[in-house]
Amino acid sequence: MSNTNILQNKLPVWVTLQLTDACNLRCKMCYEWGENGAYHGRKISRLDKDAVLRVIDECLPVKPYFALFGGEPMMYPWFEDVVGRIRQGGARVDVPTNGTFLKRKAEMLVETPPNRLWVSLDGPEEINDAQRGENVYRNVQEGVATLFELRERKGLKEPKIGYTFIVTPLTHLYIQGFFENCLDLDMVDHISIEFQTYATAHEHDQHRQLFRRLFGVEETPCAAGMQDDPRKFEMMDFEAIQAQIHWVEQACKKRGIYFVCYPKTIASENYRAYFTKQYADMADQRDKCFFPWIYMEVASNGDITPCHTFYDVPLGNIYEQSVSEIWNGGHMKNFRHQLLRQGGLFPICGSCARYYADPNKR
Ligand SMILES: C[S@@+](CC[C@H](N)C(=O)[O-])C[C@H]1O[C@@H](n2cnc3c(N)ncnc32)[C@H](O)[C@@H]1O
Ligand code: SF4
Repeated sequence: MSNTNILQNKLPVWVTLQLTDACNLRCKMCYEWGENGAYHGRKISRLDKDAVLRVIDECLPVKPYFALFGGEPMMYPWFEDVVGRIRQGGARVDVPTNGTFLKRKAEMLVETPPNRLWVSLDGPEEINDAQRGENVYRNVQEGVATLFELRERKGLKEPKIGYTFIVTPLTHLYIQGFFENCLDLDMVDHISIEFQTYATAHEHDQHRQLFRRLFGVEETPCAAGMQDDPRKFEMMDFEAIQAQIHWVEQACKKRGIYFVCYPKTIASENYRAYFTKQYADMADQRDKCFFPWIYMEVASNGDITPCHTFYDVPLGNIYEQSVSEIWNGGHMKNFRHQLLRQGGLFPICGSCARYYADPNKR
């Protein structure tokens, strides 16, 4: 998409709906419910069904790409209504899921299918469960098998079923082993390999001070939930990560499996730079983050932000204004203006693996 087109957008072309904060798992690295996650102790919110449908209807004229998010999006009671409304309106919708509800919801998922389900698994059983919780691996793989079998039996093409793997110090040596030995790749439609997003205490502190000054927010809890100790990442075997991701990429090419990875460039030095915070050495540098010009996130309390990773600045709320009013309003304009004044990136942006993604792939 050209810059001119991006700037002409009167509505966002990529919309993430954080349907609910609630989640049944406590994955260790999770910035929401993990060891340092931001959601502990907060009041759990979920979006009102009618408000979500209103947002969808308002955005549908530009046929945005929708993503349903959480928490665990399958815990949202009106999940099927939301997917149905988007699909009837002719737009696409993808859903990341922890996969633990797939078995129970398989019928619903083939009746009213999202385009793609991204099932989170982070390694072979022992490794995945060390990161995502006891018995999660088995439960998820059973759910995938049930859903796959039902979809095939009914002769349907959707939902497409694929996996998201999060590379962390715990999982980084098990990438190839998982995709090669734990899955039948002929049954997989898409794969995403993403790197753990984290911020150092210093990065978070700088970010909080800057956002206080620029936007008047007192705290930046999302960035706080991303905090981790950089020493945990220094010892990772970056050559091994490169070799394994290269293997997965080739395996996908051979079988026509849609493949994405963040950061995009498969190179050990790129990975070292990312995990050790040497952002200037990254191969995937951009001169600015493009998200605030195309992307909108609706948090579970109705707040709208233009960032998926550090959604700490509410720029409006769907219970008070229309999407169009917020998207074209003063707060959003000011956010874009401040981002450009900072040179197109805030200091924290380097920590966001999505920032290194390919803007043409979603
Ligand atoms: C926050 S979860 C929400 C959806 C659902 N609960 C799930 O686990 O798929 C979305 C994705 O973010 C991943 N994730 C969690 N913590 C992360 C982190 N610190 N860095 C990068 N990705 C992370 C999850 O593994 C999952 O693939
Ligand atoms: S299942 Fe998803 S939202 Fe829940 S703790 Fe794990 S990564 Fe976080």
